[in-house]
Amino acid sequence: MAFTRLSAFIGITLAALQVANAGLARPVFCPSGHVTANSACCALFPMVDKLQTDLFDGGECGEEAHSALRLAFHDAIGFSLRGGKGGGADGSILIFNKTELTFHANGGIDDITSRQFPVFQELKLSAGDFVHLAAAVGTANCPGAPRLQFMFGRPAPKAPAPDLTVPEPTDSVTSILSRFADAGFSPREAIALLSSHTIAAADVVDVTIPGTPFDSTVGTFDTQVFLEVLLKGSLFPGNGSQPGEVVSPLHGEMRLQSDFALARDPRTACFWQAMVDDQQRMTSEFKAAMAKLQVLGQDTRKLVDCSDVVPVPKTFTKQIKFPATFSKKDLQLTCKDLPFPNLATVAGPAPTIPPV
Ligand code: HEM
Ligand SMILES: *[C@@H]1O[C@H](CO)[C@@H](O)[C@H](O)[C@H]1NC(C)=O
Ligand SMILES: *[C@@H]1O[C@H](CO)[C@@H](O)[C@H](O)[C@H]1NC(C)=O
Repeated sequence: MAFTRLSAFIGITLAALQVANAGLARPVFCPSGHVTANSACCALFPMVDKLQTDLFDGGECGEEAHSALRLAFHDAIGFSLRGGKGGGADGSILIFNKTELTFHANGGIDDITSRQFPVFQELKLSAGDFVHLAAAVGTANCPGAPRLQFMFGRPAPKAPAPDLTVPEPTDSVTSILSRFADAGFSPREAIALLSSHTIAAADVVDVTIPGTPFDSTVGTFDTQVFLEVLLKGSLFPGNGSQPGEVVSPLHGEMRLQSDFALARDPRTACFWQAMVDDQQRMTSEFKAAMAKLQVLGQDTRKLVDCSDVVPVPKTFTKQIKFPATFSKKDLQLTCKDLPFPNLATVAGPAPTIPPV
């Protein structure tokens, strides 16, 4: 009886594995018990566990996870299709921190590089692999996030990226879009990448209120930020108006001038608005744009696809809602081509968003 059950169980497990790996040429069974497409990836599973325990508080979508994603952007965007800038997604921001951390746009990023450095030294990955694996794993800790691709095998960075490759919230839409275009991203892809601001908070925009989130659900990779940036703003959450900051609709919420402008500019407003309550669109566009970002400047023929080491994120399937007291009448819409989804409003008084 016990034996029959056990063999039935084994049968089901094997069948499940076969289905899970239907797309793989020949699944590799790692010593750790994990299954992957390529034996080169086996070494990464214990490293992912180490990242989770040593960096992400056991697998949380907390500040370290958010900053690991921001770090991946600031590392990779130091690249130009025309050459003459940095090596892209090469981990230069970690290795050449003495140079890159002095750039104004990297304000506050020393927190995460100094947190990551000892773990980086222990794992013995290249700096580029480390930064971009940490970003994929950290993002996976956020419910609703897509499971990001991870390509393995970046060589060591050769030099720091030069200054002025990372967009700033004080930049105009024209300057932001031209910087993204110079790195190979369309306006639509730029907006897709900004989905990241759904798990984001600001420490240095207004130093009197560190950890001030960009939306009311900073621990969830939902489309809430796309909705809330479209609301009419009325207040500054901290010490008045700071450079790169514009009025926000909610106490405790930070609104970047760049997000505000991109959400309303004719070149990007429809891409922005289309994300509202379309979890599927946001996650698939973000995943595709991140796959591009995380190998910028790399010879992808020399990289191994180790995406199956990235944890599978929890899903988010709920409809998003207007924050309490807000509704359609509070929207500032400039995209005329799209209907706006019908969304309910959270019950109760207007919220104050707590810091992270
Ligand atoms: C127009 C382009 C962008 C601008 C101007 C911008 C600007 C900013 C600023 C000013 C902050 C707050 C920093 C602080 O005060 O601590 C921030 C946070 C963040 N950004 Fe962006 N960003 C841009 C694009 C992106 C992209 C493309 C990504 C990722 C793919 C990203 C990911 C993040 C994350 C995750 C945070 C939160 C970090 C944390 O909570 O520790 N940003 N961004
Ligand atoms: C910068 O890099 C050095 C090693 O070169 C490291 O010891 C230090 O912790 C790093 N600091 C920051 C702020 O990233
Ligand atoms: C508040 O902001 C003003 C103007 O931006 C600045 O001069 C002042 O130093 C700030 N106060 C604090 C406590 O940061």
